[in-house]
Amino acid sequence: MVELATGRAIHMTTLFKFIHLAAIAIWSSGLIIMPFLFWQRRNIEPGPELERLHRLTRFVFVGMTSPAAFIAIGSGTALIFLQTTFLEWFSLKMALVSLMVMLHVVAGLVLAHLFEPGKSFRRFSYVALTSSYLVLITAIIWVVLAKPHIDSSQFATELFAPGGLRQFLGETRIPIP
Ligand code: HEM
Repeated sequence: MVELATGRAIHMTTLFKFIHLAAIAIWSSGLIIMPFLFWQRRNIEPGPELERLHRLTRFVFVGMTSPAAFIAIGSGTALIFLQTTFLEWFSLKMALVSLMVMLHVVAGLVLAHLFEPGKSFRRFSYVALTSSYLVLITAIIWVVLAKPHIDSSQFATELFAPGGLRQFLGETRIPIP
């Protein structure tokens, strides 16, 4: 019975890892291509060509990259419970992933206004945003694959201690109506 349950958990883990990696491949490649698509906006006058670029850019962001991000986060969350990944390197990964999510939102904000009259995306922004995505994605993949040993007791003794959050929040009280 126990063996059956273990076997099922291994199959679930393999399935979720497959989904996670597939979603990350789409999410990451979508983000890397976004600044290049934004940059194509330069020198295009209002007309059918601009509308075509707008439709394509919206599709890549709304139809491809954002759903992949949701699937990557959902499957990653399932993996936390399947793999019981409660180690320091994973906290570092989550910090980097939150930066990636913030930069995902930045791409959405740029897209929301870029196709208004007179707007453009400069070469500097193109290079800066692309480099940020590349550095972050490489850093996350390195952290996950290398799983570096980080001893949090050296700098945050309460980080993994049971009840640490209560101590950290100190006197914070939730008002009971
Ligand atoms: C909220 C978002 C995410 C969550 C909750 C999450 C969670 C996880 C978990 C729990 C694992 C299994 C770790 C283990 O082997 O013990 C995993 C594997 C992995 N994750 Fe994520 N992840 C997220 C986003 C990402 C992103 C953005 C990337 C890359 C850009 C990424 C790359 C990977 C890779 C490459 C693996 C496979 C590691 C291996 O099999 O050794 N993840 N993820």
